[in-house]
Amino acid sequence: MKVEGKYYRTIEPSKDGLSVTIIDQTALPFNFNLVRIWTLHEMQRAIKNMLVRGAPLIGVCGAYGIALACKKNASNESIKDAKNTLVETRPTAINLVWAINKLCDKLLMTSEDKRSGLAWQLASNMAEQDVLTNQKIGDNGLSLLKKLNKSTLNILTHCNAGWLATIDYGTALSPIYRAIEHGMKIHVWVDETRPRNQGMSLTAWELEKADIPHTVIADNTGGLLMQRGMVDCVLVGADRIGIDGTVCNKIGTYLKALPAKAHNVPFYVAAPISTFDKNFNSNNQNFEIEERDPGELFFIKGFDDNKEISTVRIGKSKGYNPAFDITPPEYITRIICEEGSIKTSDIKSLLS
Ligand code: MRU
Repeated sequence: MKVEGKYYRTIEPSKDGLSVTIIDQTALPFNFNLVRIWTLHEMQRAIKNMLVRGAPLIGVCGAYGIALACKKNASNESIKDAKNTLVETRPTAINLVWAINKLCDKLLMTSEDKRSGLAWQLASNMAEQDVLTNQKIGDNGLSLLKKLNKSTLNILTHCNAGWLATIDYGTALSPIYRAIEHGMKIHVWVDETRPRNQGMSLTAWELEKADIPHTVIADNTGGLLMQRGMVDCVLVGADRIGIDGTVCNKIGTYLKALPAKAHNVPFYVAAPISTFDKNFNSNNQNFEIEERDPGELFFIKGFDDNKEISTVRIGKSKGYNPAFDITPPEYITRIICEEGSIKTSDIKSLLS
């Protein structure tokens, strides 16, 4: 996507194949900073500290992390160490472990002298594939949005599932970008998404750059808006989708699904097939919900009077900060993936 007229992707490999450049998402919306990543450990820190975030993007970053490790040492042991280092950074989004396993399985079947070049190539292929997948998600989502048949469509979204969360286009925002290209009138309600505010800091920033009408709301506002008929659909991303359509996504997603069902507002989830997990369903949660530092609740970042980024404390109690929640399948109207917009009951046959 374009920022001030220039095209960017969230991660770009250098031409010499020695490093990658990422956008530091912790500095947005105040500063647009590019950061060069040269090593596995720099990539580990970038994922853990959320300079890069969003399920599909951390998957591709994980793949490049392995490729950077292979530049130094492509032995079996080094690859396995790199895999463990990266997988531990963020436990919930399946895309990270999916991408790393896919890459490592192929590398371990290849002779050591060819691994470094192959790893780089496979990571780049994954990045390209992500862009194509998200374009298809955009097209498939557009058909659903058109069917809602509104003169101005009011869409509520949570967290950031835009181009910043992927390599380009995004998942949940991709149909919105497509709809705008097709001349539809759209207005987006953007949940601020406490405690890290990815909605206010990232989604609103993306929509502003693309000139798409939007309004930031506090996380607790969606219920009132749905009750008043001010939301035509909810459209969110996902970090993991179970075989029965159970959706794990940013904390607060479930609290949007409840009023959506109560007020007959369609609830759409947009995600690539790499986000599906055959071993996860509403009775079996085979993964960890990331618990982040409670400090994220008590500190808030902003611009001070000198236009410097400054952090202030807004509380000092004991805190609890799980980063994701689980929405059962009965709350989900459709899942939009690269194969179409499917019912939760169709996932099983799609995956088999
Ligand atoms: O903790 P984050 O910022 O990585 O969480 C991101 C989300 O929850 C997104 O909605 C999800 O990853 C889907 S991204 C296309």
